[in-house]
Amino acid sequence: MRKPRIFIVDDEREQRDLLAGFFKKRGYDVDTAGSVGDAVEKFSQVGFDVAVLDLRLPDGDGVELLKKLRAIDPDLGAVILTAYGTIDAAANGIKAGAEDFLEKPVDIEQLEKIIERLMERRQIVRENRALLEITQKNFPSDVVAESPQMREILNIIARVADTDAPVLITGESGTGKELVAQLLHKNSRRREKPFFAINCAAIPETLLESELFGYEPGAFTGARKRQRGKFELASGGTVFLDEVGDFPATLQAKLLRFLEEGKFYRLGGSELVQPDVRIISATNRNIDKMVEAGNFREDLFYRLNLIRIHIPPLRERPQDLLKLADIFLKKFSTKHRKNIKGFTDEARNRMLRYPWRGNIRELRNTIERAVILTRTEYITERYIPHQEDYAEHLSVEKFVPRPLADVEKEYIENVLRYCNFNQSEAAKILKIHRNTLRNKIKEYNIEVE
Ligand SMILES: Nc1ncnc2c1ncn2[C@@H]1O[C@H](COP(=O)(O)OP(=O)(O)OP(=O)(O)O)[C@@H](O)[C@H]1O
Ligand SMILES: [Mg+2]
Repeated sequence: MRKPRIFIVDDEREQRDLLAGFFKKRGYDVDTAGSVGDAVEKFSQVGFDVAVLDLRLPDGDGVELLKKLRAIDPDLGAVILTAYGTIDAAANGIKAGAEDFLEKPVDIEQLEKIIERLMERRQIVRENRALLEITQKNFPSDVVAESPQMREILNIIARVADTDAPVLITGESGTGKELVAQLLHKNSRRREKPFFAINCAAIPETLLESELFGYEPGAFTGARKRQRGKFELASGGTVFLDEVGDFPATLQAKLLRFLEEGKFYRLGGSELVQPDVRIISATNRNIDKMVEAGNFREDLFYRLNLIRIHIPPLRERPQDLLKLADIFLKKFSTKHRKNIKGFTDEARNRMLRYPWRGNIRELRNTIERAVILTRTEYITERYIPHQEDYAEHLSVEKFVPRPLADVEKEYIENVLRYCNFNQSEAAKILKIHRNTLRNKIKEYNIEVE
């Protein structure tokens, strides 16, 4: 990190040197000027974080000067120093955008506190500006970022999107890894070019190699003509290597070489291909542990992991959770033509306690189901899974094989109970015809209230 830069403008040399000396000792980078003309010239060449301006200058005043400096850097923090008893002029200074003013003789400790505060404010202003920029670019309004963690992620996206740096996105299933990858692509100069997502876990090893790198005729049985791979086809764009933790060990060296040298041969080919692609990868596995345990090449990991974006689970982002729940509620109320106003407090509390291992995807499904089932204006806690319900799901290890009919009977009973024995609703959830349900109730001898 570079040191914060302070610009001191005062026509009295002694005062300048005093302040400059003090702040230099405190670790700041300091530069000074003695007039408006001198200040503007220096400022346009160097750039500062905070300016300390004397109100009275030989060729103008501090307020005027500040306007000029702000025309160059709108986020500049500023303190205007006034002679004792000239508060009115100082107030004018505030109108011009100086956040603070200080009477001479300067209390230097107080000045330091003000400067620290201005530095913090500048940081926030800049971050907000970055967010605003991404919003105005390709940042769909349905992306929720109410939590500080998600806002920080958008910040990182704003900063790294338009570079070609590889980004590794980690997080549990359903936390939004693919969404982040898409935001990176959409906010880069590559946005008009392809975005290819490859699920490395779903494609068999041999196919994955030809899928990514392409092949020449005769490379293997059945390879009749040249086929370009995704890396080549995406040229100018982005390749998203999803589930990269499952990238086959045998292909890791080849991928590494491509990342290092930017070129590769198609399978069975002798011509070097050099596509211009940006690589984004993601995994929900603990890839750091995998590297430690020797289950993933360390050198490849370092290449992919140049920039890391970790998306925390939804349960650690209560602000996002509640906002998403509201959005899904509205969306599904419209979709299913229901007039639902919101959640009860108890429902919200339960949502906040439940671990949501499937994260946003699980939340969405839960809310859609609740919207379909509920008959009241507000969704109550009975449609939100209970924390303990999850513990039950976990006990699948104690697996006891049973006849399918038993399981079906029990499941139908549960669904019926879930919808208060309303058979049409149960049939809707089960996606079977009402008559089929009725037959099964008879067949299994299920008691219906
Ligand atoms: N911040 C967000 N705001 C709104 N919707 C989101 C947000 N994050 C994720 N989603 C939505 O949640 C769903 C799951 O996101 P996504 O597919 O990106 O997750 P993932 O981490 O790739 O999951 P998996 O590990 O299962 O592949 C998507 O429909 C996505 O649009
Ligand atoms: Mg995904």
